[in-house]
Parts: sequence; structure tokens; C-alpha cells
Amino acid sequence: MNRRRRVYEGKAKVLYEGPEPGTLIQHFKDDTTAFDNTKHELIDGKGVLNNRISEYIFTRLNDIGVPTHFIRSLNMREQLVREVEIIPIEVVVRNVAAGSIAKRLGIEEGTPLPRSIIEFYYKADELHDPMVSEEHITAFGWATPQEIDDIMALALRINDFLTGLFLGVGIRLVDFKVEFGRLYEGDMMRIVLADEISPDSCRLWDIATQDKLDKDRFRRDLGGLVEAYQEVARRLGILFENDPKKRSGPTLVKS
Ligand code: TMP
Ligand code: ASP
Repeated sequence: MNRRRRVYEGKAKVLYEGPEPGTLIQHFKDDTTAFDNTKHELIDGKGVLNNRISEYIFTRLNDIGVPTHFIRSLNMREQLVREVEIIPIEVVVRNVAAGSIAKRLGIEEGTPLPRSIIEFYYKADELHDPMVSEEHITAFGWATPQEIDDIMALALRINDFLTGLFLGVGIRLVDFKVEFGRLYEGDMMRIVLADEISPDSCRLWDIATQDKLDKDRFRRDLGGLVEAYQEVARRLGILFENDPKKRSGPTLVKS
């Protein structure tokens, strides 16, 4: 049987060994967690939606020249990606105050920020992913100053692109989290976007209704998470697998 080697298991994804050296299979689970795993639920269909949305966003980013680990989609829950050395930093870009910045700095949620703000968090669950500065990142050798420059430039390009993409479908991109990795090609190394971009890792607000279309539905017990993620996919024009109408076979054309 198909016994693939599990390389890494995270809270919402599993990485398996890929078919060729230097590749991995990224599998999206239905597990939904918040607050350092203290809140955990299986939400049927979430993984399929995140796989589809992330695939779409990574493909569009590749198209505009943002290097990513994404190679191609394999099935409803899995994608083939390049193996990279993950930089242990969560990069958060914020356009509007919400979540931790609203709390930490006492800014009312929904207040537009004077400009886009980039924050870094050290990936360490046992420490609750503490916020760190560039000084910490370079002093502890998590990334070099040049790598931080590349990461910030990429993060801002991703923010500009995603802001426009979502604005076009009536959604405000409040903030998001991305991760980067080092891709080694021969004796060359470059920084590429890794992990995922999905409603699990973004705050997405419906511009017309202010409804939350992201993981805050789960964090704040609002319900309707799958419906919200489906709405994001539907607006992006990529809701196929989950659309029962499209599953019922070919549409017959009357003569
Ligand atoms: P925060 O307001 O809780 O700091 O979150 C900022 C953004 O980063 C938000 O879109 C959610 C996302 N995020 C993650 O994807 N993973 C995390 O572990 C955290 C804390 C935030
Ligand atoms: N703290 C993260 C979040 O709320 C995820 C987690 O801790 O599992 O997005």
C-alpha cells in the first residue's frame, strides 16, 4: 500500500516525502486550532478549501514573479511543493488593526493603520510564538540582514497583490501571516514563499457587510467557518470541488 514517509506534522498540515528528491507533498487537514492548540476541532471540508485557495493564490503569485515553493496541485487535499529550509519566523503584514495589535496597542479593531506594518514572530509553540525584532533575528542567526530585506520586500509585494485581488471581489485584506524558506539550487540559494495562504492565515472582511470570512469565525465562536471559506473561494471563482451543482455531471445542452 501507499506508505509515504511523513516528514513533518503540523497543526493543520502534514508534509510527506515527495516523488522526487527535493520535493514534498503538502497535505491539508481538517484540524482547526487556535490559541496554541488549546482550542482544537475537526471542521469537515476545511482542508479541501484551504488547499484550493492556497493553490490559487500561490499560482497567481508565481505568475507575477514572486518565487514560491508551490509546484502543482495533486488532489483535493494535497499539493506538490519544493523542499525548502523553513526560516523559523512568522511574518505578519497588517493593513487594518485587528487581533493582537489591536489588543497590545489599544487600537480599536477596524482602524486603518497609517501604513502597512510588518511584524516578526519566532516560531516556537512552547514559547507561544513571541514577537521578535530584526535585531533578535540576526543576532540569533535565524536569518541574515540580506534575507530579512528579501523577506520584507516579498511580503510587501504579496500584500499589494493580495490587497488588490481581494478588493476586486469585495473583501478587505486586514492582515495575514506568511512563512519563507531557503531553496537551494546547486550552489545558489534564494528565499521563496512557503507554507500556505488561506483564510486560516489571513483576516478577510466582507466590505459590504463587515462579516468575517476567516479563522476568526472559529477563534471567536462565530460558527459558519466552512461557509465563509466557501464564500471566499466562490468569489475568487475557484469553488469547483465543493459545489454540488458541479458534481452532478456534465450539464446537458438542450437542442
Ligand atoms: P494576530 O492578530 O493574532 O497576531 O494575527 C495576525 C495574522 O496572522 C492573522 O491574519 C492570523 C495570522 N496568524 C496565523 O496565521 N498564525 C498564528 O499563529 C497567528 C498568531 C496569527
Ligand atoms: N495561534 C494560532 C491562531 O490562532 C494557531 C494555533 O495556535 O493553533 O491562528
